[in-house]
Amino acid sequence: MAGLLLLGLTFWAGLAPAQGDPKRGEYLSKAGGCLGCHTEARQGAVPYAGGRALETPFGVFYGPNITPHPQAGIGRWTEANFVRALREGRRPDGAHYYPAFPYPSFTRIVDADLRDLWAYLRLLPPSARESRPHELRWLYRWRLLLGIWKWLFFTPGAFVAEPQRPGVLNRGAYLVQALGHCGECHTPRNWLGAPKQDRFLAGVKGDDDGVPNLTPARLKKWSDGELKDFLANGLTPDGDVAGETMGEVIRNTTSQLAPADLDAVVAYLRSLPRLPDERK
Ligand code: HEC
Ligand code: HEC
Repeated sequence: MAGLLLLGLTFWAGLAPAQGDPKRGEYLSKAGGCLGCHTEARQGAVPYAGGRALETPFGVFYGPNITPHPQAGIGRWTEANFVRALREGRRPDGAHYYPAFPYPSFTRIVDADLRDLWAYLRLLPPSARESRPHELRWLYRWRLLLGIWKWLFFTPGAFVAEPQRPGVLNRGAYLVQALGHCGECHTPRNWLGAPKQDRFLAGVKGDDDGVPNLTPARLKKWSDGELKDFLANGLTPDGDVAGETMGEVIRNTTSQLAPADLDAVVAYLRSLPRLPDERK
């Protein structure tokens, strides 16, 4: 009898519309770095109300207001609109987003986590701050061209765990590839700005020192503890501090991870194939 009741309850739970959990959503938004790109970089800025400038070779993007304000933010969106934005890189009217919004990584966020993120964003205080238009070089102003870019380079789809891989490595892969979007900075790109997937996390040539290789070819010098310390508080083994860009990632994202998740990130980075440094 109790068994039947339990069976009935489980069946019912399976059919009931799943409600996202805002508490988990808050944690996931930290792991995804949503706050940094969607909040102006000044003291007293309203969280998630947009205005953060993101300099790229294509021009300057401004993270939009994603608070639930009905006009200025995404207050009139449905959960399905939100899922489509992150999974497919499309606006509710069907137009394409620029990959400055890292949906090529966020597409891998699983459905349950998207629901939790949505539940969290719904509870933010709405802000009437208008989103600022991007300032792009002329060729890049046409969102239509993004359709071609996506057709060439973008594969939508949630992360799927590999059953033969230990759970901790699947968790680490998910955090690095989907929410943490580490590859957006650490993976080299082709001339059209698409990441070279066979060089995943191999580092990028650039101004200053570029972006370092995260595969064991370079990180073997660091112990697990040193790597964890760096991701938790920005201190390198030789007593240096992280640069500005990675420093912000650490502040907003990796330092906020639960200890088990940080361990998973480190274990996954250790398991990557060694790739020669792209910066040379
Ligand atoms: C690296 C910076 C960056 C990060 C990190 C980022 N976003 Fe964004 N996001 C953007 C930019 C830039 C746009 C605008 C893209 C465009 O106009 O094509 C955007 C657009 C959006 C939109 C569409 C808003 C609208 O009005 O159409 C939503 C929703 C959104 N982001 C949610 C999120 C969530 C949730 C996260 C965390 C999981 C996140 N973003 C992390 C940069 C970022
Ligand atoms: C917005 C761009 C950006 C993102 C996203 C990013 N990084 Fe970085 N990262 C950098 C830059 C730039 C540096 C080098 C600057 C520094 O540390 O002084 C760096 C340095 C590092 C280093 C130090 C490596 C070394 O040899 O010195 C580690 C480890 C690292 N990142 C891990 C990560 C992980 C893990 C993620 C994802 C959770 C991540 N990064 C996401 C830009 C980024």
